[in-house]
Amino acid sequence: MSKHQPDLMSTIVSLCKRRGFVFQSSEIYGGLNGCWDYGPLGVELLNNLKQEWWRAMTLRADVEGVDAAILMHPKVWEASGHVANFTDPMVDCKSCKARFRLDILLEELALKAKKKILRTLEPEAFAGRQQDSRVVDEFARRIADDEIAEKIITTMVACPNCGAGESFTAARQFNLMFKTHVGPLEDASSVVYLRPETAQGIFVNFFNVLNSTRQKLPFGIAQIGKAFRNEINTKNFLFRTREFEQMEMQFFVKPGDEDEWFEYWREQRMNWFLNLGFSTNKLKWHQHDKLAHYAKAAYDLEFDFPFGFGEVEGIHSRTDFDLSRHEEFSGKTLKYFDDASKEHYLPYVIETSIGASRTCMAAICAAYAEEQIGAADGKEEKRTVMHFHPRLAPMKAAVLPLVKRDGMDDIARKLTADLQRFFRVFYDESGAVGRRYRRQDEIGTPYCLTIDSQTLEDNTITVRERDSMQQERIGLDNARNYLLDKLAP
Ligand code: GAP
Repeated sequence: MSKHQPDLMSTIVSLCKRRGFVFQSSEIYGGLNGCWDYGPLGVELLNNLKQEWWRAMTLRADVEGVDAAILMHPKVWEASGHVANFTDPMVDCKSCKARFRLDILLEELALKAKKKILRTLEPEAFAGRQQDSRVVDEFARRIADDEIAEKIITTMVACPNCGAGESFTAARQFNLMFKTHVGPLEDASSVVYLRPETAQGIFVNFFNVLNSTRQKLPFGIAQIGKAFRNEINTKNFLFRTREFEQMEMQFFVKPGDEDEWFEYWREQRMNWFLNLGFSTNKLKWHQHDKLAHYAKAAYDLEFDFPFGFGEVEGIHSRTDFDLSRHEEFSGKTLKYFDDASKEHYLPYVIETSIGASRTCMAAICAAYAEEQIGAADGKEEKRTVMHFHPRLAPMKAAVLPLVKRDGMDDIARKLTADLQRFFRVFYDESGAVGRRYRRQDEIGTPYCLTIDSQTLEDNTITVRERDSMQQERIGLDNARNYLLDKLAP
């Protein structure tokens, strides 16, 4: 069980702002809830993550990429089930009008007061078994059931916003899709939605990709793009936002082969995280027992955030649900012709669906560390360091002239210009070199290249590695190849 560290989360959020990873959206106007802007370092980190995903998913013969429009025909969302089912139950406080998601309110309450609830609602089950935590936990799971949840919320919970008791309305279903209109007329005929997932852009292009690439089953289609959900309660920084990015891949297989491919993709996706330096004890699988309307099986890959484990990626066995619904709603056949068996059928689908924004936050939380290290005066000092994998690190190297004279700064500027053609590199000549290292540690720069008096004699430079803080000398002319080698996939 992870130890929650809420203070760590606020330290990370403030570092993200101070060093230019993430800013509040429209901050000078007071911000817009559930929306965040990536700053100069954040956008590099996010792009690196997306590039790593794109490389892993599409540098293979059996996956193609697409980039579909955000606005799609409204029938897409009827066919996908989102118009009818993409809802969250919510309650309003009659006193202050604040709106809450029923399950979240309950989750918070269940953590604090599950014994009290059980004692009140099920005194018989509770009698004499106060010490049996399994009974209480079992009950906590059952209160996820909407009917019991509503009863608890409407009778037992004071509004967390204004404190009024018994002030909640009955629960209502709230659709999470953002609606807008195409063209000048704002009527029912012009309604479109901002897509709540990128997956449907892949399903509706299944035949286009099949025909234009002459792929055969099994094969996949990958896409990275923005998705929008009008979440009732946004929370935990980038974790649950209203605008975010997804990286999704639908892998089309012959019916009957889906279980094998499901396991294959689960392994691939876990390895992707491990290869990027996430440690195994920060990741775990959670198998769904309550399945989404389209799924036959589903696992979440969860990361241990400072506030506890939370989903970063879902692997879903989606059967032929989506293609069959699009056949039905569009009137077009989407059946695949299998050359070998001479049959026509709808492929089954294994989906891998990861949030780029949420994973960016996971990468920041995984990388963040405060360490005690030896200082020059023999005492200890604290350093804040981001242990990003070098391929994810926003800045790949810093070039530091030891002093601003004797031509060291000229050499350093020339080296910076040369390296900048290939990598994001930072030139820094101000302050003691130790302080310059600390500034780079804090943003996760893996290599600091120092030009010193020895450089003037033998054309070598010092490379200081961020995690070990070990130093080695390499040839000045070798700096580019050194970095290329370190950053190679
Ligand atoms: N196509 C399937 C699908 O969209 P999902 O579990 O709803 O599945 C997949 O979303 C991933 O998208 C999640 O694992 C999460 O990383 C990310 N995600 C979903 N809602 C999000 C939100 N409101 N804010 C940030 N990321 C979100």
